[in-house]
Amino acid sequence: MSFRIDSIRVDPPCVLAPMEGITDRDFRGLIRGLGGCGLTVTEFVSSEAMTRSVAKAWRMAELDPDEHPVSIQIYGRDPDRMADAARYCADLGADIVDINCGCPSKAVTSGCAGSALMREPELARRLYEAVGAATRERGLPFTVKMRTGWDSESRNAPDIARMAVDCGARMIAVHGRTRCDMYKNRADWSFVGDVKRAVSVPVLVNGDILTVADAHRALEESGADGVMVGRGILRNPWLLRQIAQSLRGESVTEPSLEDRRAVLLGYFAQLEELGEHFHGDEATRERVALGRIKKITGYFTKGLPFGGKLRQRIFHSHRIADARGFVNDYFDLLAEHRVRDAFLQVHDEDTELPSVA
Ligand SMILES: Cc1cc2nc3c(=O)[nH]c(=O)nc-3n(C[C@H](O)[C@H](O)[C@H](O)COP(=O)(O)O)c2cc1C
Repeated sequence: MSFRIDSIRVDPPCVLAPMEGITDRDFRGLIRGLGGCGLTVTEFVSSEAMTRSVAKAWRMAELDPDEHPVSIQIYGRDPDRMADAARYCADLGADIVDINCGCPSKAVTSGCAGSALMREPELARRLYEAVGAATRERGLPFTVKMRTGWDSESRNAPDIARMAVDCGARMIAVHGRTRCDMYKNRADWSFVGDVKRAVSVPVLVNGDILTVADAHRALEESGADGVMVGRGILRNPWLLRQIAQSLRGESVTEPSLEDRRAVLLGYFAQLEELGEHFHGDEATRERVALGRIKKITGYFTKGLPFGGKLRQRIFHSHRIADARGFVNDYFDLLAEHRVRDAFLQVHDEDTELPSVA
């Protein structure tokens, strides 16, 4: 199972969702390295900031030279700036430019960007036309990520998607919630099917895909061409690989404890190595890297036995070396307690084992 965005093959049809503050270059490299990821998308980048040369925007749009296919996601409300930002994305080596029409955050929607565009179809059309012209000029496709609508009374994603495709969009990703749902209720995968039936280009189903079984159900209910996974990857970094295995009809491999230890420590090493990626002196770089480490360890260990204890220790560490030591202690402790498959289930709360030191 795979699909194409023009000449770009997305194989497997499993896409890492854009997540601001998480899916930076290092994180995308980590997930891609685990396999099963047919396409990555950057965090959303403000077209205003990008075209005004704000350093942070450029850092958010940084790509790894080996990372293909990759899409840079932009947002904004000014068609000319969006078109300029799309040209910059092409210069940065993006294979695809993605327009964010899904972000529910007030900071974005109050500027009439993100999901607010679903209430402003005329402005959305002008943005699609402008980005469409700029990307055609540079020979790359553009895609759109959206929610199902602004609220339950106005689920207009099929209309907005059709309009985007009329303006040249080559793929639509749909998070099955309205803007007003924020993250409440369940993602409506069957409504994503309405979008799929409305357009002739590939559609991705997104929202609440936390397991391999969810991915199958989401594809079945929506008839979509592929899945986009965000938060599920934070609990289980191997989820895209597992979904890809299952879609190919292979048996799904479960990571061992040692795999999990290696992934976390590998990520720490990557952050240290790519220190020059952060700006400032060595102490600042370590602090920034440590911030990322705390965040990612927090996500990766949520719901795991003794996870709370590890998070607490890492949260209070001041050096990457200390954090590495705590991770090693943690996995040694799990091995000592013969924890093998506790990771296979996702719990809301940490499962405490008896006789915790
Ligand atoms: C922390 C976080 C940051 C996000 N940042 C972005 C973003 O930059 N651009 C975007 O289109 N969606 C963003 N999203 C939304 C996700 O891409 C995705 O649509 C949503 O989380 C639903 O999918 P999931 O249930 O698989 O996480 C973000 C979500 C989270 C949790």
